[in-house]
Amino acid sequence: MYSSIALAIFAVVAGLISSIAATAAGADTPATLTWTGEVVPGNGTTNPTGDNIQDILNQIHVTHPNYDATKATSNQKSTENDEPGVWKTFCGVFATADKRNLMEIQYDLRMAGGDCTIPARTCLRLSCWNTSGIYFCNDNDYQVTIQCAYVADFASYIGTQCCKSDFTKSKGISGQAFSALGWNVCVGYANCNHPADRDAPGIFIPPGLNGECRD
Ligand SMILES: *[C@@H]1O[C@H](CO)[C@@H](O)[C@H](O)[C@H]1NC(C)=O
Ligand SMILES: *[C@@H]1O[C@H](CO)[C@@H](O)[C@H](O)[C@H]1NC(C)=O
Repeated sequence: MYSSIALAIFAVVAGLISSIAATAAGADTPATLTWTGEVVPGNGTTNPTGDNIQDILNQIHVTHPNYDATKATSNQKSTENDEPGVWKTFCGVFATADKRNLMEIQYDLRMAGGDCTIPARTCLRLSCWNTSGIYFCNDNDYQVTIQCAYVADFASYIGTQCCKSDFTKSKGISGQAFSALGWNVCVGYANCNHPADRDAPGIFIPPGLNGECRD
């Protein structure tokens, strides 16, 4: 799906064991997000599928334009109630996202609420705007289901731990936060105009047009 040259450059630049390589979706197995949640509390769950959370929100907003899980009175039920926490984090390992846009794309995950399910051995660009992305990557041989807001928590954690320079010094941010359960969350450059299942964050050469990761 992406060239070994890009991978090699990534490995040199990032010095990171390429768990990304194992997580990239194969071209013949398009990564698809399944969202599970109650749009109207008490009215049953729905399971729309889409390219990313913005796609899901657009689908929900057709019939429920005011839907916003952050404003809902009853919490979404989740299959993954125990938050396992961030196991380890690597900062500055990808071409960067924009710090301000990261706030927005993690908020979209909170606004959606519900659960996000991705297939086995997939790295899905879960939330994307302009040139910034949150990627949800699953190294397991089975699909994983996580509260979408919990993926946002991991992205926010990267936001607090990585590339801590003031926005005026550099707006770039990237990082990868691993859970202990075989999945991880990446923040980095994304081209939201690309088809959803074509990119993993490691294919872009740092720092990219959002600037370098600076502490
Ligand atoms: C509740 O679900 C039913 C069946 O899916 C749907 O027709 C109805 O519009 C929903 N109610 C609300 C308030 O969205
Ligand atoms: C999208 O990102 C690029 C690169 O950071 C930036 O120059 C551009 O202004 C952004 N577009 C919008 C609409 O924010």
